[in-house]
Amino acid sequence: MSKTAILEIDGKKYEFPIVEGTENELAIDIKSLRGDTNGITTLDPGYKNTGSCESAITFLNGEEGILRYRGYAIEELAEKADFLEVAYLLIFGELPTKTQLEKFHNDIKAQSHVDEDVKKIIDGFPKSAHPMGVLSSLTSALVAFNPSSVNVDSEEEMYNAIVRILAKFPVLTAWAYRKRVGLPLDYGDDNLGYVENFLKMMFKKPSGEYNSNKVVVESLDKLLILHADHEQNCSTSTVRIVGSSHAGLFVSISAGIAALWGPLHGGANQAVIEMLEAIKEDGGDSKKFMAKAKDKDDPFRLMGFGHRVYKNFDPRAKIIKRSADNVLDALGIDDPVLDIAKGLEREALEDSYFVDRKLYPNVDFYSGIIYRALGIPVEMFTPMFALGRLPGWIAQWREMRLRKEPIGRPRQVYIGESLRSFKDISKR
Ligand code: CMC
Repeated sequence: MSKTAILEIDGKKYEFPIVEGTENELAIDIKSLRGDTNGITTLDPGYKNTGSCESAITFLNGEEGILRYRGYAIEELAEKADFLEVAYLLIFGELPTKTQLEKFHNDIKAQSHVDEDVKKIIDGFPKSAHPMGVLSSLTSALVAFNPSSVNVDSEEEMYNAIVRILAKFPVLTAWAYRKRVGLPLDYGDDNLGYVENFLKMMFKKPSGEYNSNKVVVESLDKLLILHADHEQNCSTSTVRIVGSSHAGLFVSISAGIAALWGPLHGGANQAVIEMLEAIKEDGGDSKKFMAKAKDKDDPFRLMGFGHRVYKNFDPRAKIIKRSADNVLDALGIDDPVLDIAKGLEREALEDSYFVDRKLYPNVDFYSGIIYRALGIPVEMFTPMFALGRLPGWIAQWREMRLRKEPIGRPRQVYIGESLRSFKDISKR
C-alpha cells in the first residue's frame, strides 16, 4: 500500500502522498498543499529539504558517500570510461556502443569551430577579466551565432544544440585562458581525443609543437568525469530553472557558469589553492588558519572542507586524492603547498570542531592540487570545473525539457511592511 503523510493545521487534517525513488528515497508530494490549505506554503531557505524534481540521471547518498551516474558507480566510471563516453551516458541515459560513440565524437568534431567574430568580443575584455566571467558571457553570446539552437522542440534539434555546445565550449574555455596570457586564439586538432585536443588548445605555443603527456591527459579525463554531474546543486538547479522558462540551452548553461563561479560552489577549487598559498606565505602555520576557521566572529572558512550533502566523505575526493598522488609522482613534482594541504587535512580530521560537524575534505580540496601539477593556472580552475560539469548541465536541461516540467517559480513568505501611505519627499 502506498504511504501517505498527514499534516494537521488548526485541527484540520490534510493527506499527502509519499513518493518513493528507485533507491528508496521518500518524499512528501506537496503539489496540492497550497490549493488544499487555501494558501499555505512551505519555507525552506537553501532548499535543504526540498526536492525540486524527479530525475533519473544521478544518484547521490551523502550519508553513505555514494555517487552514481545513470546507475553506474563513479569509482567504476572513473577507472574504465573516458569523459566523452560518460558525457553520452549522462545525456542519453545509456553507455554508447562503439558506433554511437564514434558518431557522437564525429558530430562534435564537425562543430568544433567558433565564428571568427567571437574573437572581436574577446578582444573587448580586459586581460585581467576573470575567465569565468568571460566564459559565461561568451556562452551566452554563442546564441547570436547559432540562432537555430534556441527554440529547440524536437529531439533532433536538441541533439544538434547539444553537440554544438560540447564542441564549442572547450574552444571558448581555451580562448578565455589564451586571451589572459596573450596567446593567439587558435584551434586544436580534430584527430585528437576530446581531452587531449582541449589541452593542445590551451597550451600550444605559436612557435612549437604541442606534445601531450599521457599521465596529464588521463588524469584530466578522470577529473572531468568526477565533476560531470552532481544532481541538483546550485549551478545545475540554475540551469534547470533558467531552462524552465524555455530559454535555450546555451543561455541556461551561461547562467549555470555564473552560479558555479561562487567560492561556495565551483570557485572553491581556486579558493583552496589561494588559501594554501596564503598559509605558506604566512610562515606555514596551518593551526593558525584552523583557529580562524573555528572562530565564529571570523568569516574565514577552511576552503575545500564540508559539503551540503556529503556528511560522511565525498567519494570523488577519495578517487582524486589517489589520482593527485599518482600525478605528482609521475611528473616528479615536489610541492610545498601539497605538504601544507596534507598537514591541514590531518589536523582537521582529528579536530572535534570538524569531526562533530562532519566536515571532510571535498573534491575541490584535491582538484586544485592536480590542476596546479598539470600546469593549469589558478584562475582557470573553475573554468575546468565548468568544462567537466557541462555534460551534467546538458543532461539535466534535456531531462527537464523532455519531462515538460513547469516553469520554476518558488513562493515566499513576505516579511516586509504592510500597506502604508506614500509620503511626499519634503516630509521624509
Ligand atoms: N570551515 C569552517 N566551518 C565550516 C565549514 C568550513 N569549510 N563548512 C561548514 N562549516 C561549519 C559552519 O560554520 C556551521 O557551523 P555551526 O553549526 O557551528 O554554525 C556548520 O559547519 C554547518 O555549516 P553550513 O554552512 O550550515 O553547511 P552548508 O551545508 O550550508 O554548507 C558548504 C556547505 C560547502 C557551503 C560549506 O561547508 C563551505 O562553505 N565549505 C567551504 C567551501 C567549499 O569547499 N565549497 C566546495 C563544495 S564541493 C564543490 C561543489 O560541489 O560545489
